[in-house]
Amino acid sequence: MKFVTSLGAGTALWLFAALNVASAQDLNVLCGVDEDWCLTMETAFEAKTGLEVAMERKSTGEILDRIRGERADPVIDVWWGGTGDTHLQGAAEGLMEPYQPAHSEDALPWAQNFFQMSGGKASGVYAGALGFAYNADILEDMDVPTPSCWKDLTDPQYRGLVQMANPKSSGTAFTVLATLIQLLGEDEAFAYLSALARNIPSFTTSGAAPVKAAARGETGIGISFIHDAVTQKLAGAPLVIVAPCEGTGYEIGAVSIVSGARNLDNARRFVDFAMSPDGQATGAASGQNQIPSNARAALPPAAPDISLIRMVDYDFATFGSPEQRRRLLDRFDKEVLQGASAVETQ
Ligand code: G6P
Repeated sequence: MKFVTSLGAGTALWLFAALNVASAQDLNVLCGVDEDWCLTMETAFEAKTGLEVAMERKSTGEILDRIRGERADPVIDVWWGGTGDTHLQGAAEGLMEPYQPAHSEDALPWAQNFFQMSGGKASGVYAGALGFAYNADILEDMDVPTPSCWKDLTDPQYRGLVQMANPKSSGTAFTVLATLIQLLGEDEAFAYLSALARNIPSFTTSGAAPVKAAARGETGIGISFIHDAVTQKLAGAPLVIVAPCEGTGYEIGAVSIVSGARNLDNARRFVDFAMSPDGQATGAASGQNQIPSNARAALPPAAPDISLIRMVDYDFATFGSPEQRRRLLDRFDKEVLQGASAVETQ
């Protein structure tokens, strides 16, 4: 009291406001889905709970690196979204906290399996298949054929016309790498990627950037998740979406709590919401087209029907292992990035 009166009323008010803001940080979330979804989710969770959330969008590999870097003194409480392989790698490195969220009984079988595989440390929120999309106007103007298979994309006619992300930063691109290995075998997959890199002028940081660039006409062909291409097409882009003829891989997007999280109770509330029908409805509400993991959540009307896509029996155990990640990224760096002298851009 004495302290307040001696400062004067104006200063005391200012001090009170400052303390209020500092203590209003109830939860720190790194978000791996599209920026629009991050914002919609943040707003919906804050409205439901009255908590104040600091949320930032990053690509999946960047999130893993950040959480690793904070291991001794975590600032981030929750990692929400982004490809499940990388959540499994984080769980295997001891970076994630076990938590069985509310609504687990409503999780579809693939999400239940994923939860088991993570040792109870990551929950599946959504699924989506990998593919590519081409800008029909660009390919027509350039008078090049339209691709329908992975193997078509190495055709020298597409020199400079293909975009893909860097698997070090992007979970989407790590899924491409893992998918090609499962389709072709590892050596052949790397030979394919080296040939493909000759058509790629630069590797993006984020996995959805390639189809966004194709939608804007800045590239001819973007390799990304099919649901990201659907979002662009629904917004009016002249994209043709391709599920590659050889078959393709898929992601289980996940949520996990950081081990040693300072705001553990709030983190658990966030994960419960992320697994609920209302939480999962924020995807469709922000124009996203993944398949929700909660059987009671509404399917976005334009979500691709993955039962119609030829899919590999994706090996999450192998590609979710930290040793494999390290080894494969190292090999990608040496044989594909350095080999093609490709330039990484944002
Ligand atoms: C997009 C997709 C998500 C995916 C994420 C991965 O946001 O809509 O389904 O999980 O990309 O992001 P990244 O930048 O790591 O490839």
